Amino acid sequence: MPSAIKRVKTGIPGLDGLMEGGFVQGSSYLVTGTTGTGKTLFACQFLWQGLQQGDPVVYITLEEDPVDIKEDAMLFGWDFATYEKKGLCKIIYHDPAQVNNLGTVMMSEIAALKARRLVIDSTAVMGLSLDTHAQVRRRVYGIINALKSHDGCTALIVSEIPEDSKALSRFGVEEFVVDGVIVLNYLGIGEAYNRSLVIRKMRRTNHGKDVYPFEIAGRGIIVKKPEM
Ligand SMILES: Nc1ncnc2c1ncn2[C@@H]1O[C@H](COP(=O)(O)OP(=O)(O)O)[C@@H](O)[C@H]1O
Ligand SMILES: [Mg+2]
Repeated sequence: MPSAIKRVKTGIPGLDGLMEGGFVQGSSYLVTGTTGTGKTLFACQFLWQGLQQGDPVVYITLEEDPVDIKEDAMLFGWDFATYEKKGLCKIIYHDPAQVNNLGTVMMSEIAALKARRLVIDSTAVMGLSLDTHAQVRRRVYGIINALKSHDGCTALIVSEIPEDSKALSRFGVEEFVVDGVIVLNYLGIGEAYNRSLVIRKMRRTNHGKDVYPFEIAGRGIIVKKPEM
């Protein structure tokens, strides 16, 4: 019975309406795009929405310093530090050279906070510590599968599309394991709506199929109606 599906609000105005009200609770999603398309911002906005609803959240960053993430988020008015002090939020740096224990760290942090939202940003650097793409694929596959066994926590995995690539992720495994894929685009020309988003896959969801322009405003990402 489809009525058993619980939806999780992304916190991104204009997006939930394109996918039956939001992500499916407990599922894992990929947000991908080339560099500078807004993936980290999307991830922060998703976690901030969780905190506003009382959901504990965990952010595992393999790239940026947690201090920088918090400072950037403050520009949008998202004060993660206050929630960290209350024990409702944890932003952790995980050395990409130690990717072998990422799954264990992730599951124990989710358990410790009773987290209902998780971000991993990003899988693109996981290759730094592993010798072959096959090893990375196995690792990414293992991590996402571990998340799937956890019904209460909705996860957002950030990956990266290499410039001029038709792939959806760095290692070509992320998009197959997750329940949904959102691609962020940036056309470095013109002013209005040079950013757009496509929902490439969304299991158990009748989702919008257009290219949706979005803007980054004072409150974060806002998705607009498709251009005719
Ligand atoms: N305060 C802001 N106001 C407007 N645009 C911003 C702001 N902060 C970041 N951006 C835009 O978002 C882009 C970076 O977003 P980010 O989420 O870090 O990208 P990614 O993680 O995909 O590399 C920047 O290149 C900039 O264009
Ligand atoms: Mg980023």
